[in-house]
Amino acid sequence: MITDSYGRSINYLRLAVTDRCNLRCTYCMPADGLNWLPHRELMTYGEMRRICALLVKMGVEKIRITGGEPFVRKDLLPFLQDISRIGGLRELTLTTNGLLTAPFVPELKKMGITTVNLSLDTLDRDRFIRISRRDALDKALKTLDALLTHDIAVKINAVVMENSNTDDIIPLVQLTKTLPVSVRFIEEMPFNGGARTISLRWNYLRILAHIRDHFPGLQKIADSPHATAYGYHIPGHKGDIGVIAAYTRSFCGSCNRIRITPTGMVRTCLYEAGSFNLKQAMRNGCTDDDLQGLLAAAILKKPKDGWQAQDMLVAQKLEQQSMATIGG
Ligand code: 5AD
Ligand code: SF4
Repeated sequence: MITDSYGRSINYLRLAVTDRCNLRCTYCMPADGLNWLPHRELMTYGEMRRICALLVKMGVEKIRITGGEPFVRKDLLPFLQDISRIGGLRELTLTTNGLLTAPFVPELKKMGITTVNLSLDTLDRDRFIRISRRDALDKALKTLDALLTHDIAVKINAVVMENSNTDDIIPLVQLTKTLPVSVRFIEEMPFNGGARTISLRWNYLRILAHIRDHFPGLQKIADSPHATAYGYHIPGHKGDIGVIAAYTRSFCGSCNRIRITPTGMVRTCLYEAGSFNLKQAMRNGCTDDDLQGLLAAAILKKPKDGWQAQDMLVAQKLEQQSMATIGG
């Protein structure tokens, strides 16, 4: 098991397979998208598999595939199948916006995927269009339905934004009444490619207070050791609720994750710039031992928390990017 300099064991990899997306969420990117990476800048599936296998050898037990939108990348399914067969990997999962996902759900089930995170910030068609700049709520809901039909657990991720979707908090909570889903409300973070400034008047405490106003019976439930969400349950409901203090960063002390961006950059914290490029190293012909050394060195430099990481970013005069280039 590899640990960082603060004694945190790293056993969770989030791998972004593309920066491209078929939505244009306001909290993630400008209306006309990002400067998409040219294909040669992306790691190949073979390169990504090599890194995944090495990290599993080094103690990673869970891999989440993210993007951008992962299903926008061609031939994602065979890649997922390949990763699912890595010996020693306990859990493979993914985060998707659901637009292209529904037809693949039976295959996801077959390869042993038991949980999927679905990004869904509203249940209202007009607000969906305003937030994601695409008219595609029906497609996302189809994926929700397909996942539940195939008995795959669903975590719904909803980014809460002032003057945008705070009216959706209660309808999203109400989903948990009849559906066995976990709805998680996420504080907005400043990763939008410079598209907008954020207010944090709706932090996790306010979101929670708002939910409690409507559901006074709200009960705290136990959180797993590395959870970023603080979990709650409304008596009689089938599903659960979570709040994720993504901006407040109150959970860094138990962080067990690293991220790898679509270009092969290791990011040991969401808020850091990243300084180790695995793709370059691989294309320069490095051995597995060299790669393991690079990964271990990057992990040793993992910042204490998201605030320290942000300070480093500011000191380097680097801008915060989009969630789609970092990997959600
Ligand atoms: N703030 C908070 N969450 C974000 N996501 C994307 N951009 C942001 C942001 N600026 C989340 C989305 C999606 C996941 C990939 O990342 O909810 O579910
Ligand atoms: Fe796409 Fe996710 Fe960014 Fe929305 S938040 S534009 S779904 S990558």
